[in-house]
Formats: sequence, structure tokens, C-alpha cells
Amino acid sequence: MLQWDEVPVAKNKVTAAKKAQPVIQSEVITQKIIKQASQKAAEPQPVHQQPKADQPRTVAGAVLSAENSERVKVDQKRMINCRADLNQLVPFKYQWAWQKYLDGCANHWMPQEINMAGDVALWKDPKGLSDDERLIIKRSLGFFSTADSLVANNLVLAVYRLITNPECRQYLLRQAFEEAIHTHAYQYCVESLSMDEGEIFNMYHEVPSVAAKAEWGLKYTEQISDPTFNTGTDETDQILLFNMIAFYCVLEGIFFYCGFTQILSMGRRNKMVGVAEQFQYILRDESMHVNFGMDMINQIRRENPHLWTEDFRTKVRDMIKDGTELEIAYAKDTMPRGVLGMNAELMEEYLQFIANRRMTQMGEPEIYNNPRNPFPWMAEMMDLRKEKNFFETRVTEYQTGGALSWD
Ligand SMILES: [Fe+2]
Ligand SMILES: [Fe+2]
Repeated sequence: MLQWDEVPVAKNKVTAAKKAQPVIQSEVITQKIIKQASQKAAEPQPVHQQPKADQPRTVAGAVLSAENSERVKVDQKRMINCRADLNQLVPFKYQWAWQKYLDGCANHWMPQEINMAGDVALWKDPKGLSDDERLIIKRSLGFFSTADSLVANNLVLAVYRLITNPECRQYLLRQAFEEAIHTHAYQYCVESLSMDEGEIFNMYHEVPSVAAKAEWGLKYTEQISDPTFNTGTDETDQILLFNMIAFYCVLEGIFFYCGFTQILSMGRRNKMVGVAEQFQYILRDESMHVNFGMDMINQIRRENPHLWTEDFRTKVRDMIKDGTELEIAYAKDTMPRGVLGMNAELMEEYLQFIANRRMTQMGEPEIYNNPRNPFPWMAEMMDLRKEKNFFETRVTEYQTGGALSWD
């Protein structure tokens, strides 16, 4: 924790350091960056990483060439391979991205605000929960604790760099912080319930049904998180798009849904309501992440229709089917018997329903033949309003950062 009396000391140090350096220091650093960028550009690169000949060089998104240093115009902005200066947020081109950033900020919450006392008592009571219910809690914390870190790393180390639009990047930064809050929430649950943290946080390589999902996710971040990977050719643009579909549609859009449904069903039965409430707020954030991801994917497609080939569509369909099957296997592993008014068969149908929904969101034909939604109550969980808390464990106002009003 920062002590206020530390501030003047730190300030003095900074001032002293500044005095000791020549005024032109920042200029020297800039020149050095430009020189390094030129040297790097001159180095031979693998064929798929060659930038297009008319693409300007950039450092941290700032355009370096004089001919491209004019004020940014809306029609220069593009989701990928943009040539305009990325340090200029406005003028907006994608209002949906800015609106989602504002909506995300308005939904801000923190895990410590949720009362966990009832959960602690129930978890410690040997007769409080059945073995099947305990299994669900542990598996969910085990899977999600790693999955949210995976998503955050994919955002920060891969997607952020490759999405060349400032208003989308603004939401990506918000999303990255929300993923940190989610990981914090799982840690907070594990700590509150005095669980074996080694067991929970290592599940992603010790429990096969959890490991299979984590490995699947890792496969779809490997290429784009390579710092030498760049878009700019049809092949690399397709790789980015494909990996984004894997993370937004499958990892966040399907892999989260068995666990969310199980935990929220528990909360509906007045069990582990603190954990359930944490998951409820996470679900609200996640449904926005998926919608934002879909908006980005569809916008990239609109701007680059040539990427959406028949071959690409088949690959996407196969990947989503593959992911859905993994989640169905996870449902079977975590629900060996009926529990909390649900079972693996109902969950299978629900996951097929969700997978169809993801396909429709991309304007693609559905995969599964008419599955119904066995858990229609999940929709109201996603539309949570802070002033009417479903489990009523707290009454605090969640909406923050709304519209400014000076009177
Ligand atoms: Fe998350
Ligand atoms: Fe997310």
C-alpha cells in the first residue's frame, strides 16, 4: 500500500534524476527507437510476415513517416492493418466499441464487496453440501481461475497489438482489467473457503477435462502471441481472425457456460450464494466480452470479405463443433449424476443451443438440429441490474461512472 508520506520522496528522486539528464534525452530515445525500427525493417523476415510495400512503419502505433502524420480522418480507420496514427482516439469510427467501453465501466464491481460468510459456514459444514455439489464448486474454480488468465494474456500479448483501432483498444484495456477482476474473484473464493489453492490452481494440468479445455485455448493463442507475428497478408489476417473466433466464440462463448450454469443453479437453490453472486457478475461481464468480440470479428469480415472463404468457413464450423464437444465432455465429467435440477444430457442440449447462437451471431448456419434452451433463466442472469440483486446478498449500488450531470 502506498503511504502518502512516501510521495514527496519519490517526487524528489524523479526531479533529481531529471536534473542530471540532458534536456534532449527523450529526443535521443526517440531517435534510437526509430533507428532500431529501421534496422529491424531492413532485416530479412519470413515470407508471411512481410508488411505490404505501401504500409508505413510504426512504433507503438504512432506513425513515423512524415506523409502519414496528418490528422486522423474517420475513413482511414480500420480494424486491422490500419495506417492511421493509433494514438488518436477520436474521431470515432466504431461507436459500438466506445459504447461498450462506457457500459463496461458502468458495470464496475470488486470481489471483496460480496459477502461470503454464508458460503464459509456451508462449505465447512460436513452435511452442508453433497459430494456432487462440492465437485462442481471445485472444478469451476479450477477451470475458471486459469481460463481467465489465459484470456487476459491472449488480450494483452496478442489481440491488443494486432487490432489497429484506438476505440477497440480502449475496450480491450477495460476487458483486460475485468479479466484480472475475475481471476481475483476466484482467488477470493478459494481463500474465503480455505480451499487447497495448489489443488485448485493446478487443475488445468492435473484434471483431464479441465486440462483439455486449457490446452485447446493455448493452441489458439500460440501463433498470434509470437512477438514476430504480424498481419498484412491474407494468410496472417486469416490466422488472426481464426484465433479471435476461437477465443471469443469458444473459450469465452462456450467453455464458460457449463460452469456458469452449474454455479448459478446452485445460487438459485440458496446454496453458496456468495460464490454464485461472484459468478453472476462475471457472467454479466463475459456476455459483454463475447458480444464485443463478435462485433470485432464481424467488422473485420466486413472490411476484408475476401478472408471469409468457403474453406475458412468450414474450418470455423469444425473448430466450434470441436470446442462444443470438449465442453460436453466437461459437463459429463462434472455431473456424473443429476444434480441441482440438471444433468449432463440437459447441459449437452444447452451447449448445442449456445453453439448455434454463436454461429448465428457470425451470420453462419447453425450446427445442431433444433436444440431447445433447457435453462431459460440464464438469460435473466445475464441481464442483471445492480439494484435488484438476484441472490440478495448485498444491496450496494454497482452502477458507477454513469453520465455526467453538473446540476
Ligand atoms: Fe473473464
Ligand atoms: Fe472475458
